[in-house]
Amino acid sequence: MKHYFYYKDKKQVVPVLDEGKNKQAKKKLAHILKTKKELIPDHFIERWSEVALYNPSGDVEKANAILINAEDGAYDLSNPLNEMTGKEWVKFSCSWFIFNALHKDLKEEREISPNTQDHPATFSPTMIEGFINFFTKKGEAVLDPFCGIGSTMVACKRTGRVGYGIELNKKYYDLSLKRTPEFKKTIFNENAANIKKLKLPKIAFSISSPPYWDVLNRSTKDFKKDRTKDGFDVNYSEAEEDLGNIGDYDLFLEKLANIYFDIFDLLKDGGYLVVIVKNIKKEGKMYPLAWDLARLLSKKYMLKDEKLWIQDKVGLAPYGYPSAWASNILHHYCLVFQKK
Ligand SMILES: C[S@@+](CC[C@H](N)C(=O)[O-])C[C@H]1O[C@@H](n2cnc3c(N)ncnc32)[C@H](O)[C@@H]1O
Repeated sequence: MKHYFYYKDKKQVVPVLDEGKNKQAKKKLAHILKTKKELIPDHFIERWSEVALYNPSGDVEKANAILINAEDGAYDLSNPLNEMTGKEWVKFSCSWFIFNALHKDLKEEREISPNTQDHPATFSPTMIEGFINFFTKKGEAVLDPFCGIGSTMVACKRTGRVGYGIELNKKYYDLSLKRTPEFKKTIFNENAANIKKLKLPKIAFSISSPPYWDVLNRSTKDFKKDRTKDGFDVNYSEAEEDLGNIGDYDLFLEKLANIYFDIFDLLKDGGYLVVIVKNIKKEGKMYPLAWDLARLLSKKYMLKDEKLWIQDKVGLAPYGYPSAWASNILHHYCLVFQKK
């Protein structure tokens, strides 16, 4: 017999064997499909014949979750945020993760254009997919105001979201379009400070990594030498509007925060903003960019959390050796804010 109803027994999700309850569950599933279709994620609809009803204590009347198989967990139909099962949700809620560049992402980038390596600081679309899957549902609008070569746009394409991107440097903007031509009308070659002029629609979620102050202009001779030798860019641009060219820390913070304050007005109520940044060092002194930005943006947003992105496959440089303490900073803060 196909089981139409599951419950939790000793921390395990197992089928209910009672025939009467299964009949009741089958009826309820048909009713859900008829009356609440808009609440059901597409991937459940596509496999509806395999879908079962779930309630942890085995109460059909109260059951409001569906599953396809017990290992993947159940999806709660009252979930307003995403299309994840409880199991997937909890997995993502860990406050840290380790992520290193993936071969499959680099391959995708280079197949589109060998020039993608020109950009000195990109993140992985696969990493961003995880955030998009958590903070949105299919078809919703996601904004990256520092879109670079379009990694967030690729993540949107892969997850069925609508990507909105802003990038100052025309060369990187062109690469974004080449990677995701479907977002031709929603990726802009603009200064993000002008975001209000773009007349964007309501955005469900924004995720971005801004310039980490002017670190690239101060990067080591080796970094510059190696990249120049290969013909790659050593900074984003020479443009005055490029936030990476602002030498004064407080001014940089103010201009960056203003862009995120403008995004506040575009975000839907309850929508989330994730900013990926690092604390950085200049002439031996630490500038807590992530912490300063968290505090500054809290003037408008509610700071919800930090999620640490750790890279454990980057070589260690002998900074400070043999006379002074200087760490290799290999973690970034994914700061999570909410429009409340
Ligand atoms: C850390 S990179 C983001 C890279 C992107 N996440 C990716 O994976 O391609 C920051 C980007 O911000 C852009 N940028 C700097 N100032 C800007 C501004 N005022 N408006 C829009 N983009 C800007 C830079 O050109 C750079 O591409």
